[in-house]
Amino acid sequence: MPTPNRPVNVLLIGSGAREHALAAAIARSPKLAKLYATGTSNPGIAALALPVDVPAETKQLYRLQQFCDAKQIDLVVIGPEGPLADGWADKLALSADGSRRRHVFGPSAKAARLESDKGWAKKLMRAASIPTAEGRIFTDPDAADEYIKTHEDPHVIKAAGLAAGKGVIIPNSLDDSLEAIDRIMRQRIFGSAGDSVVIEERLQGREVSVFAITDGATLLMLPPCQDYKRLADNDTGPNTGGMGAFCPAPELDDDTLQRIESDILIPTLDALRRDDIPYTGVLYAGLMLTPAGPKVIEFNCRFGDPECQTIISRLESDAIELLLAPTNATLDSIDVAWSPEPSVCVVLASEGYPEKPHVGLEISGVEDADAMPGVTVFHAGTRLDAGRLLTASGRVLSVTARAATLTEAHDRAYAACAKINFPGRAMRTDIASSAAVIPR
Ligand code: AMP
Ligand code: GLY
Repeated sequence: MPTPNRPVNVLLIGSGAREHALAAAIARSPKLAKLYATGTSNPGIAALALPVDVPAETKQLYRLQQFCDAKQIDLVVIGPEGPLADGWADKLALSADGSRRRHVFGPSAKAARLESDKGWAKKLMRAASIPTAEGRIFTDPDAADEYIKTHEDPHVIKAAGLAAGKGVIIPNSLDDSLEAIDRIMRQRIFGSAGDSVVIEERLQGREVSVFAITDGATLLMLPPCQDYKRLADNDTGPNTGGMGAFCPAPELDDDTLQRIESDILIPTLDALRRDDIPYTGVLYAGLMLTPAGPKVIEFNCRFGDPECQTIISRLESDAIELLLAPTNATLDSIDVAWSPEPSVCVVLASEGYPEKPHVGLEISGVEDADAMPGVTVFHAGTRLDAGRLLTASGRVLSVTARAATLTEAHDRAYAACAKINFPGRAMRTDIASSAAVIPR
């Protein structure tokens, strides 16, 4: 579908730091006419985008569709997985009367199943011989218990549906495993996401996040990142949505990246196409670099958060051109330029995250941190209340810094974090520190 021969109107869906970073990149584009966003409760996004005055919810999606028609939206960018799984890309790609198409960055609900149904994704990978952790899918908790009792190897237990990055349990004992099954499948702590579980072989190695923008056939690889999923230093504590990231990941050399493209990403897109499921948008492979080569831990159908903040901080070319490319047949021809400077993102979280974050606490120092050279503070869970900036959810801010070396970017990000305060502020102190000493 061609783009109009005039500046484009963009609608951005989502309200976290990933979307704040996307909004910042879109707002810089000379191709932009107007940027609207559903997430303007986030003060960072509100400073860059116009609000949407209709409800942004699946049940009333026709209203958002009408909004897109009225505002002549040319491109819809969908940040989070929930709306993608609920078919927002399918619906918003069409005008309310069905007569016109518009560009949407993000896959259809069918393709987003790669993330929203881990059991289905596992079967697809197995059928296409894509290297991944061995896994078994269970819909009956008693059968899952039985399997665990008879298979002692270290494993990982995953709710098969969407659970906001928290549906994976890494048990330390048989009792932990049985408790995990009980909590997911009988107590249903993740609701219907726990209708089935995947019990997976536990992979050893270093984890990396690889992203590619795709139209379903052509791939444009983005610089790889490392994410930190566990809450506390040295990868301890519960899994979270992500406590920090850096980009590029030095242990992923060009050969390995090439191998990931040819052995993992292309066969996945081919397998989807064989099932008549074209994938457009960004494909995110969470990988473990095992001694036997890279293996898939999971696929996601969106940018990672906080990885997106580190990628976007390095993007020097036009974000709108990049986001239009999957539906514009221009993936082969666009020029994408990245800053040679590495970037580091440190997440500042609320006390009690991920279980029960304390919110509503006053934040100070964001402007000072944001004014530091090379630093951008993206808002995740904050809100403005009579001019005061307050914490509003578990992940509060993504403090992102770029510098000539990874060590300097690390130092800058932490110097910026030191300027920001709120009661109970939690962060990891080891983001990018181990990587900083590994030579490339
Ligand atoms: P996921 O939501 O599937 O990415 O899982 C969250 C985190 O759990 C991953 O980032 C890994 O750190 C860990 N994890 C998931 N699956 C495995 C596995 N098969 N082996 C080892 N660690 C895993
Ligand atoms: N940072 C991990 C995720 O976005 O799923």
